[in-house]
Amino acid sequence: MNSRFFIKTYGCQMNVNDSEKMAGLLESRGWTQVYAERSASLFIVNTCAVREKAQEKLFSYLGRLKRYKELDPACTIVVAGCVSQLLKEEIRRRAPFVDLLLGTNAYPRLLEYLDQREESDFRLSRHWNEVTSLHRRSSFSAFLSIMEGCDNFCSYCVVPFTRGREKSRPLSLILRELDELSAQGYKEVVLLGQNVDAYLDPEKGGGFADLLEVVAQRSGASWIRFLTSHPSKFSLRIAEVMARNDKICRALHLPFQAGSDRILSLMNRGYSKAEYLSLVKAIKERVPDIAMAADIIVGFPTEREEDFLETMEIVEEVRFENIFSFLYSPRPGTKSSKMEDDVPPSVKGERLIRLQERQKEIQLEENLKRIGSVQRVLLEERNRKDPSQTVGRTAGGRVVNILGPCETGQFADILIDGAGPHNLKGRIPL
Ligand code: 5AD
Ligand code: SF4
Repeated sequence: MNSRFFIKTYGCQMNVNDSEKMAGLLESRGWTQVYAERSASLFIVNTCAVREKAQEKLFSYLGRLKRYKELDPACTIVVAGCVSQLLKEEIRRRAPFVDLLLGTNAYPRLLEYLDQREESDFRLSRHWNEVTSLHRRSSFSAFLSIMEGCDNFCSYCVVPFTRGREKSRPLSLILRELDELSAQGYKEVVLLGQNVDAYLDPEKGGGFADLLEVVAQRSGASWIRFLTSHPSKFSLRIAEVMARNDKICRALHLPFQAGSDRILSLMNRGYSKAEYLSLVKAIKERVPDIAMAADIIVGFPTEREEDFLETMEIVEEVRFENIFSFLYSPRPGTKSSKMEDDVPPSVKGERLIRLQERQKEIQLEENLKRIGSVQRVLLEERNRKDPSQTVGRTAGGRVVNILGPCETGQFADILIDGAGPHNLKGRIPL
């Protein structure tokens, strides 16, 4: 039996980071990560349950892995992540050939569970579970977890059930990992948590603004980012820390989900449209050049045209750098899944398209204004479709296609000479 493993990752950055942790643990035991399924004897699928579509990807992918199992019955199939945590019985029923299911808080004991082929513990811990050995996917941009879980219980969201209650990582452990990243020459560090504003150092009691300030001052990386913030938990101290630390990218992911106060209340979001807009205003006063991004759900149960128009008003007023917009998907165990929904799917679909089309126009208008400017970019990879180009990203998160093959993993100042709705075009100035 070979000792090669393959990990398939669905979902958010937290899942990407968990896969890096599992890869690190396996490599510490002599396993080797491979990037083609056919050469692996251990398969791990790290899953996402946030919307039904994401969840169903697991089941179609398992159909593919079943064929590997038929060819080599000795191979091992592990399902980890949020679907495993939420729907273990359904996975057992629909895919009985899966060897091991792992709960989202079980990764630190991955090697034990694998050795013993023992059912993992699905209890959600109230404390941070530390994993120190990571195999990162990038040598210049690193995810650094600072907290996990969510206590907000938005009525549509499974995260409190799949990731459990908020648990913060001790600052001392975060700084230890940060120092390692600095020593390894990482250029960008992304602080990760479902709800970073809820960070509370379990050892000394500092909050997220304190953590961000320490990280910015201590990090060897030139760019610091963080994800995700919550409008009713966001402290303006965070914006003040951003304003006085140049290393913190002027970018903020602040989901608002919906514009209508009635829908926001049904969603249990804890703020009104006016409060969201005045928060954005206060943030922009402190960090004028900030690039805002947001998540938006369209078609929540009972959403009327006038509710949807209030979502559009926020998009119009804030002029986001980027939005992530989703059709509402009822999730098992959530409060909203029991709500009566009288909005036809075709109406929901049409609203989503209107939102995305308008946002596309706004992005194009903003991107065109950048032609002629010089933007600092982190060069990420060769353009897969056209290897004569390099793909980079601005501090605000905008993709830049750069003429000419450049060395990746470095910063470059790029002269912008073209723009589309989703990206900028540029070259290294002469
Ligand atoms: N349906 C649609 N979108 C959802 N999200 C979370 N739960 C649901 C759901 N049930 C979206 C939210 C969240 C993002 C990660 O996914 O916009 O911010
Ligand atoms: Fe889900 Fe709301 Fe928590 Fe975000 S804040 S993870 S949407 S419950």
